[in-house]
Amino acid sequence: MAKPPLSMKPTGWFQVAWSAEIGVGDVHKMKYFDTEMVAWRAESGELTVMNAYCEHLGAHLGYGGTVVGEVLQCPFHGWQWSAEGRNVCIPYQDRPNRGRRMRTYPVVERNESVYIWHDIDRREPYFDVPDVFAAFGDGSGVDGYYPQQRLYREHLELHPQYVLENGVDFAHFKYVHNTPIVPIFTRHDFGEPVSFVDFTITFEGDDGQRIEDVNSGVEAINGGLGIAVTKSWGMIDNRTISAITPVDEFTSDVRFMVYIGRTPHKDQARAAAKADEFGREVIRQFEQDIEIWRHQRYSDPPALATDEYEGFTAIRQWAKQFYPDGIGGSAADVYAATQKG
Ligand code: FES
Ligand SMILES: [Fe+2]
Repeated sequence: MAKPPLSMKPTGWFQVAWSAEIGVGDVHKMKYFDTEMVAWRAESGELTVMNAYCEHLGAHLGYGGTVVGEVLQCPFHGWQWSAEGRNVCIPYQDRPNRGRRMRTYPVVERNESVYIWHDIDRREPYFDVPDVFAAFGDGSGVDGYYPQQRLYREHLELHPQYVLENGVDFAHFKYVHNTPIVPIFTRHDFGEPVSFVDFTITFEGDDGQRIEDVNSGVEAINGGLGIAVTKSWGMIDNRTISAITPVDEFTSDVRFMVYIGRTPHKDQARAAAKADEFGREVIRQFEQDIEIWRHQRYSDPPALATDEYEGFTAIRQWAKQFYPDGIGGSAADVYAATQKG
């Protein structure tokens, strides 16, 4: 594929697993941002994500590492590492090594997902992970929804920014998702690391209707480049989370989650079946986007229609803040930065 001229090491929150994949005592292996990592859950339930290689002699803690109470024990010589990445025990010496630390990552578990904070300069998190319910401030909660439905696609050749740009790309809805008419945007707010995009859209009716008369839409909140949550209104109540996490310099893992709202219904089994069917349809639409993204080449500067200027300029300018050295513009910038090492 065309390697995107955008850093695959952006700053922000990124999903690395679902919470249920890592039970108490589990040590889970993964690779993100070109780095081998482990996630392990202590007896107390606390989840830690750290780099995988033991600071002693470099054993990979994902192969035979064991959770002992609140620490992770290396399979090679039994050194124990705490949730803060500190060495707390060398079994054949009376004191631990206080100097060396395993690199750990800030972790948040929310909406059944595990998110880590990634920043190559190791700054602390400076914005929060949007919650697919609470972020909309409407009093909604998971109890009002059917169980989360999921899509997981590994190692796709795409960049997280492609997925976010989809949110300002009004013209694609008609062609990729077969909406009868082109949506219009009612809000673009790219002032902060958490940004907001609202638009009016319908999936019903024919192309004879006017978008001004449509009474349904979507509100989207982007928590940096890694996570977007959406809420629909005026149509079947659904919430979505899309989470794109770079694996290496070429590929990303894509996770997409859908919640369908519960409605009072006489026949609960039938209602649940319909919700399941609708959720699968939402996922199918996201898969239509994926087919474009995974074969796409990042176009910079793009040829834009007049009405596309504002949205694309705003989101691309906003995205730059998450790239090391503010890169995210031209391929030349990226090349220069890689030469710096
Ligand atoms: S390599 Fe981990 S304890 Fe020696
Ligand atoms: Fe789309």
